[in-house]
Amino acid sequence: MAVLEICKYPNPILKKKLSLVTNFNSNLKKIVQDMIETMHAYNGIGLAANQVGIDARIVVIDIKNEKNCPLALINPEITYFSKEKSRVEEGCLSFPGYFEKVYRSKTVKVTYFDLNGKKQEIVAEGLFSQAIQHEVDHINGITFVTRMAILKKIKFFLNYHLRKIKF
Ligand code: CO
Repeated sequence: MAVLEICKYPNPILKKKLSLVTNFNSNLKKIVQDMIETMHAYNGIGLAANQVGIDARIVVIDIKNEKNCPLALINPEITYFSKEKSRVEEGCLSFPGYFEKVYRSKTVKVTYFDLNGKKQEIVAEGLFSQAIQHEVDHINGITFVTRMAILKKIKFFLNYHLRKIKF
C-alpha cells in the first residue's frame, strides 16, 4: 500500500480520456488499494486514476454512512441522470483549496465492473451521486471547472492567473 502523489491542475493528464481496464488482475487490486489509501490520506471522498497519473478508467469513492463504500468502480458508465438538479459546493484534490458551486443531477444510475470483473449497477443519490458524477467526469478528461457557470469559470481563471490561489 502506498500514498500516491496527486496530479494538480493544469497537469495535462487531467484532460485525458482514460483507457478501458481489460485485465482484472492483482495489479488492478493494488492500484485500487493505493488509490483508496491516497484518497483517505488527503481526506477526499473520491479519486480518479488520472489524478494519480494512471491512464485507466478507475474511480474510488468513500462517502460516510454510505453502505456501498469504500467503493471501486472500474469502467463506470452513468446510464441515467435525473432531470432534477441540485446546486452544490464542490472541491477537488487536483485544485487544493478551491471550492465552487456547480449543478449536479440529484440521482444517477451507474453501471461498472467490480474488482472481480463482475458487472454491477447501482442507483446513487445526494452526495454519493455528486461524487460519482465528479469522478466519472475526471476519467473522461473533464474537471469541475467545465461544470461551472460562465461567471464562475471567469472567476476561477482570474484567481488562477492572479495566483490568489496556490496550486
Ligand atoms: Co476531482
